[in-house]
Amino acid sequence: MDAIQIRGGRPLRGTIRVSGAKNAALPILCATLLSDGASRLRNVPALRDIETTSALLRFLGRDVQVAAPEVEVAVATGEARPLAPYELVRQMRASVLVLGPLVARYGRAKVSLPGGCAIGARPIDQHLKGLEVLGAKIQVEHGYVVAEAPRLTGGEIVFDIPTVTGTENLMMAAALARGRSTLVNCAREPEVEELGRVLNKMGARVTGAGTDVIHIEGRAELDPFDHAVISDRIEAGTFMAAVGATGGDVLLENAPLDDLEPVVAKLRRAGLTIEREGEHTRVRREGELVAVDATTAPHPGFPTDMQAQFMAMMCLARGRAVLTETIFENRFMHVPELQRMGANIEIRHNTAFVEGVPRLTGASVMATDLRASASLVVAGLVAEGETVVRRVYHLDRGYEHIEQKLAGAGAAIERITLSPGTLP
Ligand code: EPZ
Repeated sequence: MDAIQIRGGRPLRGTIRVSGAKNAALPILCATLLSDGASRLRNVPALRDIETTSALLRFLGRDVQVAAPEVEVAVATGEARPLAPYELVRQMRASVLVLGPLVARYGRAKVSLPGGCAIGARPIDQHLKGLEVLGAKIQVEHGYVVAEAPRLTGGEIVFDIPTVTGTENLMMAAALARGRSTLVNCAREPEVEELGRVLNKMGARVTGAGTDVIHIEGRAELDPFDHAVISDRIEAGTFMAAVGATGGDVLLENAPLDDLEPVVAKLRRAGLTIEREGEHTRVRREGELVAVDATTAPHPGFPTDMQAQFMAMMCLARGRAVLTETIFENRFMHVPELQRMGANIEIRHNTAFVEGVPRLTGASVMATDLRASASLVVAGLVAEGETVVRRVYHLDRGYEHIEQKLAGAGAAIERITLSPGTLP
């Protein structure tokens, strides 16, 4: 069992390269199911979630060659099998993103319900309602969604709430539907906009991706594509929070500054200097760290995926930061672990009141989900003494070689293997 060991207290100085965006690469990989040609993705991060998605695509009849940062997907010989089994879907909720492409391409799909996850129930009712608008017959039985439609027909889908993968699933389904579709109250995340660019490369006519209304002219067939994935704004934001916590001066290569405006605004108010340097972004913090409130919201609001990392930084800020989580019902699991490191945090419903403390102390802590584990790494980088973050498989889902990247910027951090007898 791997763990990450950190000796804290060293300011970060140096250069860190930001990898391709996990939450862009996952839907784009699923979009390859819409075409029978061979597609190529570039700038794909080497992550567990990419491996999981590749395994699912192979199960569905695709030949997937992963040589990060490139991935090639082609149709394997033999019959396609539009079935996504529980054993694979339970490893990663984003597997639900094969549902729209499969029913659009093959007229039938059987996909395991993703089930809940650590951060919340995360239903997929909006995905299913949207597919029904496009003419799919949906049955939910024995833990599976069965969707059938000889050929989807365009229609108007109005989401009750903005959903990122819901919007992406229906964009992909509509791209192969007969006629025009209009999607209303869409998620506006940059990763949704990126999927729109790929669907246009495939021959669909998508306008408005990245806004709350998306129009799609479906096609009878879609072409394969060659696409370089955008950089990961959440990874970049995580490293910015790390510099905020430790102090220092780091050049973030390929950091997507424009997609991070809500985060950058808060970090600047907290005392960081964040400036564009050509294609890259320089992040510094020399002076005092000041408490800043944040409330998560769908893009272009403050991203829920940055809440835990921002909180770790706020633990050391002067004053009280009020952090409110509005997207998921259980996204404070990093709090008890931060408290064990000396953080002064009180939770009331979906709000965390973070009183800044002079220092954190290193401890053995447990990762519970992807961004909570990143939060514990940020805290460990600044805590006095040694921190060991366990269950780092959560971290490996969404951060490519994070310990190598941070070590390259001066952190005393390494991956260790806990002896078999150690409790995980
Ligand atoms: C995407 O998840 C991201 N994952 C998440 O990132 C991110 O936290 C989330 O969007 C919010 O930004 C990927 O893109 C692969 P939602 P998704 O549907 O699409 C409710 C990470 O850390 N909802 O936008 O599953 C839902 O319960 C991961 O990289 C319904 O009620 O999130 C939640 O409260 C974690 N019914 C809210 O909407 C539905 O049918 C937003 O969820 C769908 C969603």
